[in-house]
Amino acid sequence: MNDTDISAAAALLRGSMKTVVLTGAGISAESGIPTFRGEDGLWNRFRAEDLATLEAFREDAALVWGWYDWRRGLMSKVEANPAHKVLALWERRLPGLSIVTQNIDGLHQKAGSKSVVELHGNIWRVRCTKERTVSANTEPHLEEIPPRCPSCGALLRPDVVWFGEPLERAVLEEAVRLSATCEVMVVVGTSALVHPAASLPMAALERGARLIEINPDSTPLTRLAHLSLRGKAGAVLPLVQDRLGIGPGEDGQRSRT
Ligand code: APR
Repeated sequence: MNDTDISAAAALLRGSMKTVVLTGAGISAESGIPTFRGEDGLWNRFRAEDLATLEAFREDAALVWGWYDWRRGLMSKVEANPAHKVLALWERRLPGLSIVTQNIDGLHQKAGSKSVVELHGNIWRVRCTKERTVSANTEPHLEEIPPRCPSCGALLRPDVVWFGEPLERAVLEEAVRLSATCEVMVVVGTSALVHPAASLPMAALERGARLIEINPDSTPLTRLAHLSLRGKAGAVLPLVQDRLGIGPGEDGQRSRT
């Protein structure tokens, strides 16, 4: 990654009236949340089919909830990092910027972002398996495992999307709509292997959008990206922000010389 790339990324963002930032586990790595497929990735330590499928939940809800409770404990102790914070600033200051995330950790919102499309749900919500009602539950640790619905007594499940499950239709439609109409898409910290999230950059490219990738490693998107900034999100995004020179109080479009 060189200085020219940083300037080029800032120029693309400055000139865009519609930007989508697609994020994955990598953006939360510097907050202390393990990724899935990295060296110490969760899927190197745990079997997804035992913990993140409806079948696994039906087979052993306590085991699945035990794992999610461990992850809630971990996530309750971490803070948003500079990458999340830069995106929250850009959301306030750059026109038409939306965040589409695969992450369930809620760190974009913790950093102050408002318009976050959560493709895979959120670990701080629970859903009744009978009434399908969704409610917030932000306790670092659950009192009861598996937890039960206070109104009907049925099992609660995490309000997340498990492997083999469809994404919520409205959420996916919104993500596709934003991707298919953006001028610039910034893809941060994803291996771009899991669909349908991994197809969103294609939808953007097909409509002529410019693609910026931020990742310390190359991914299947690297050869398609107009700019591939090889580095950690917590380092790269602040560099681009410095080049953009947007202050917390200013409007990024008009006042910059
Ligand atoms: N900054 C930016 N990118 C990083 C950083 C960092 N500090 N650290 C790691 N990365 C990159 C890795 O190089 C990798 O390409 O983040 C990516 C993480 O990839 P995965 O672990 O596969 O995570 P993700 O792409 O979000 O997974 C997609 O798969 O397991 C399911 O539902 C889960 O939402 C998840 C989906």
